[in-house]
Amino acid sequence: MHLLSSPNIVPFSAATDTNGIFDQAAVLRVNDIHLCSDPGLGLKAIVAIHDTSRGPALGGTRCIRYASERQAIDDVMRLAQGMSYKSAFARLPYGGGKAVLIRPESVPDRTAYFERYAEFIESLNGRFVTAVDVGTDVSDMDTIARKTQYVMCTSAASGDPSNHTAHGVLNAILAAVCECFEQNDLASVRVAIQGLGKVGMRLAGLLHERGANLIVSDLDKNRIQQCVDEFGATSVSINEIIAADCDVLAPCALGGVIDNQALTTIRAKIICGAANNQLAQDEHGDRLFSKNIFYVPDYVANAGGLIHISFGSSIETTERIQAIYDSVIDLFRRSRVTRNPSHRVANEIAKQRLIKSRQA
Ligand code: NAI
Repeated sequence: MHLLSSPNIVPFSAATDTNGIFDQAAVLRVNDIHLCSDPGLGLKAIVAIHDTSRGPALGGTRCIRYASERQAIDDVMRLAQGMSYKSAFARLPYGGGKAVLIRPESVPDRTAYFERYAEFIESLNGRFVTAVDVGTDVSDMDTIARKTQYVMCTSAASGDPSNHTAHGVLNAILAAVCECFEQNDLASVRVAIQGLGKVGMRLAGLLHERGANLIVSDLDKNRIQQCVDEFGATSVSINEIIAADCDVLAPCALGGVIDNQALTTIRAKIICGAANNQLAQDEHGDRLFSKNIFYVPDYVANAGGLIHISFGSSIETTERIQAIYDSVIDLFRRSRVTRNPSHRVANEIAKQRLIKSRQA
């Protein structure tokens, strides 16, 4: 792992205490990490590049608050690894990377902030290509595009991928319901959605159209109200959603939601949502397996957006997003036959594909 800095970088304050970062990067096989800071603009950006053997490292830019810089570094490394696995599992021509912007209290000049960040991406010479993620949208990508070509999801190009991500998650839920409940539709299936953002709200609409009953939560009361009014959803507090009385739990907010505490309260038989890194640790996936709860690995379920970025609005995109259904059925059966948890089966498939592309 190379901890690299880019031109005009203000030293990252955590760099004096890098204890454990190199170890963690080695465990996750993150190739390099780049830091950029501009105190005048409130910018603290971290790019982690996990693997480029399949193509440029593609990954969204996440702009959220973090409890610590170390937490942000851990997040970006795990997210970058997830992007490599997602791309390899779905056989896409991209490597894996991710960017995290540690959001300050306020960003007084959002245009200057994203233009400066774009210069940082440009300085990586195309090893990293970015897109939208939590806390960023298409207009931010348009700003980034003024300073670098290494950006997707602009209004002039592929736009917001969330609709495609939601369709992929829907197909994954349909497959999991078919395998677990031997039911070919979603009539009366109870789905609890955590997070009604770009993906979660769209997913809610798709599920509602297919007759599912929704239980929802979000930090934003307006989004909850919209979901109650439009889709007849039942709302619960953010502390209750994980333990909701449902068939499917769909995490569509942030990662790490399947942790020790969650494991004692989950009532769903299926976990399938859009959020990246839903398992706090791989061991939590093992425990879901031993409780007979089917976990659809996040990067398998949420690949629809990346597929759209790769193939645009085309028949190939539609077919590949549809094929997420078959991948989930296949994963479920392999998991059952090999008595291996689904996330470990998927990781193994992704790792083998990465090894092959590194050798090619
Ligand atoms: P978003 O930022 O539009 O929505 C996230 C929503 O979660 C917001 O409405 C927020 O208020 C809510 N939220 C945050 N913390 C919460 C909590 N504790 N309880 C309940 N709700 C909470 O993000 P977006 O784009 O919908 O993405 C959701 C997840 O899916 C993220 O983890 C993202 O990385 C992942 N993802 C998104 C893709 C996309 O195409 N947008 C593609 C692949 C993954």
